[in-house]
Formats: sequence, structure tokens, C-alpha cells
Amino acid sequence: MYNVTAHGARACDGHARLSVWAISCMMPDAMKPVVVTIDGPAGAGKSSVAKLLARRLGYRLLDTGAIYRAVALTARDQGLAWTDAAGCAALAHALDIRFAFLGDTNHVYVGDRDVTQAIRTPEISQGASQVSAHPPVRAALLDIQRRLGAGGGVVVEGRDTGTVVFPAAQAKFFLTASETERARRRVAELAAAGTTVDYAATLREISDRDRRDATRDVAPMVAAPDAVLVDSSAQTLEEVVDSLAGLVAVRQRAASGDQ
Ligand code: DC
Repeated sequence: MYNVTAHGARACDGHARLSVWAISCMMPDAMKPVVVTIDGPAGAGKSSVAKLLARRLGYRLLDTGAIYRAVALTARDQGLAWTDAAGCAALAHALDIRFAFLGDTNHVYVGDRDVTQAIRTPEISQGASQVSAHPPVRAALLDIQRRLGAGGGVVVEGRDTGTVVFPAAQAKFFLTASETERARRRVAELAAAGTTVDYAATLREISDRDRRDATRDVAPMVAAPDAVLVDSSAQTLEEVVDSLAGLVAVRQRAASGDQ
């Protein structure tokens, strides 16, 4: 599994990475903050990459999947079926969600309740995928996402952030990895959080979720035409972050020149 606590520690230890790191170090403080989007399937490493990239850039982090997960959790707690589009949309409209970094963890709150752990179970993963297929739910959450990302200087991760939520984002990535590698990472991630899950079941769940997320009618998971495709199957977390940071630096300079 990726070790996100060691962020930045290896940034200058390899020739291949040196030039990218140097570009980032040379960026003047007045560089215009941009919107960076990272979309892709479950378990591709989006969360780890987005968190590390945001740290390195000094940007905020917006985990849009956590918002769908919060809707699924709230619906379940209120006895509302995930198939109830109107009911879930009403919940989404009223959702009082906020994020706060405590140490290395991006905590998620619904009202006063810290739901950081509760939204990460396999059950809520499936629920989030189901509620996210309802167009009225997506419409309700669009405003929240745009509000949280307003002003730029933000790394946004999800499924449609480069296509629908922030179509004018200056740096867009579509991060993927082989299905088996993604399942392996998810099992390790949950194990690190104290939850043991079966590899074969996880592989099935990832496959089901990807199919549902990619084939829904509204805002399906798809790479934006101007997104850079990144396959992380054979790359370390640091290598992926280095290459993304390099491209963001180029786009930041272009955006600053546009000012
Ligand atoms: O990234 P995640 O695994 O936390 O996302 C959970 C679900 O939320 C995912 O299966 C589909 C949905 N989602 C979405 O439809 N659009 C987004 N921008 C983010 C997540």
C-alpha cells in the first residue's frame, strides 16, 4: 500500500524525479492557483495521490466521493432505500458536510458527527455508487462541490470532476490501474484501517462498482477529452505524484501568464 505519511521525503532522491521537483521548487509564490481534477475508478490510488499532491502544492483537497458516501450513510441511518431517488436527493440538498484535516487524516463531518470511518465500509461503497446514479442526487451535490472548490487552489478527486463539476479545470488527470492491482490495494487499505475483507469479494465489488459508475446515464465515469491518462499499476505513489506535480507546474505557469 502507498505510504502517504512519507510525503515528499523521496522527492529529490532520483534523477528522474529531480527535474520535476526542481520545477515545483522554482514556482514563485504569486503563481495563480488552479483547479486540479483527478478522476478514475475505485482503488486506482486517487485519494492517496490527491492528498499528497495537495500537500505538495499547498492546495486544499476535495474528496467528492466522500460526499456521495455521506449521502448513502445518512440514507441508511434514516431507513431510506438507496433506490429512492427523490428521498436521497432531498437528503443531498440538506447535507451539512464539512472536511477538516486532523494530522494526516481528512476527517469528514455530517453535522457534528465524525463519519470518517463509517463512510469507508464496503457496504457504504456500494450505497454511494447506487445513490450517485440518481440524476437529482448528482444535481443536488453539484452546488456543494463547486462551493467547496471555489477560488481554485484545490485538488478535486472523484469520477466526473474534470468532465462535469469543474470542466474548466486547468489540470485534469484520469488515474487508473489494473483491476487486480486495485483490488489488492483496497484490501491492504482496509486492513491498515483494521478491517479484514476477502480479496475475491473485493475484486467483484470493485468490478460491479466500476460498471455501474461507468455506465450510468448522467455524468458517467469517463476521462475528460483533455485529461492526462495515468496508469499507476507499476508506479509508486511518489512517482505518480511527481509526474502530476510536474504537469500542474506547467499549467500554473500558463494560467499565471493568462492573468
Ligand atoms: O471515490 P469513492 O470510492 O469514495 O466514491 C464512492 C462512489 O461515489 C463511487 O462509486 C461513485 C460515486 N462518485 C461519483 O459518482 N462521482 C464522483 N465525483 C465521486 C464519487
